[in-house]
Amino acid sequence: MTPCRRTRQPVFDLPAGLRLRRWSQDDAPMLLIAMRDPLIRHYSGFLVEDRSPALARLQHYTDSWNHGEGAAWALCDAGDQLVGSVRFALTDGDLGTGAVGYWLTAQVRGRGAATTAVGLGTTTVLRQLGWHRIELRHAVENERSCRVARRCGYRFEGVLRAGMRYPDDGRWSDEHLHARLAGDEGPRDPGR
Ligand SMILES: CC(C)(COP(=O)(O)OP(=O)(O)OC[C@H]1O[C@@H](n2cnc3c(N)ncnc32)[C@H](O)[C@@H]1OP(=O)(O)O)[C@@H](O)C(=O)NCCC(=O)NCCS
Repeated sequence: MTPCRRTRQPVFDLPAGLRLRRWSQDDAPMLLIAMRDPLIRHYSGFLVEDRSPALARLQHYTDSWNHGEGAAWALCDAGDQLVGSVRFALTDGDLGTGAVGYWLTAQVRGRGAATTAVGLGTTTVLRQLGWHRIELRHAVENERSCRVARRCGYRFEGVLRAGMRYPDDGRWSDEHLHARLAGDEGPRDPGR
């Protein structure tokens, strides 16, 4: 991957007073509450249940942009309460390939916030970090996530049989693989 000159991780104002901002250590209590949401917990690749691992994770999120390993944003409402997460993590630096994961708390689902946030994050990572390919995986039955993927221009590439094991209950899950390449045409209106 051609190294890019890194600037400070950008933040974004979204419609309806939402904001995509950098994480801080102060977010630990809100992260722990969000991770108790049944859907977020069900589809999370990791569990965070205590303050100390939450702080370590937030430090990792903060460092990822500065270390060139990805980009993690907290989605917050007008009162700066945490309502979502969008995170890009480099999985193969030589190939410039990474993965994206996201969640919203229940109060902001169904309004397009995930689509807007994932779309903005995707554009930023492709342009500013110079990634070549971003993969997006979700459980086959997670249709809401599939719709976010498609609206953000992540093309469906196939099914990974038992491609994930979720820590919540140890279940093996068949996963859709979607991906967006730097050279792909983005969605015509990234909002939908
Ligand atoms: C996956 C998840 C983030 C999707 O959330 P979401 O609210 O459906 O996604 P969006 O914020 O993009 O909202 C899209 C919905 O809002 C509607 N909407 C309203 N205005 C919109 C706009 N301006 N732009 C896009 N969608 C809009 C869409 O019609 C869509 O509803 P539909 O899917 O029924 O058609 C959410 O369900 C979640 O957090 N789930 C638990 C964790 C999880 O599954 N994470 C993903 C693991 S891979």
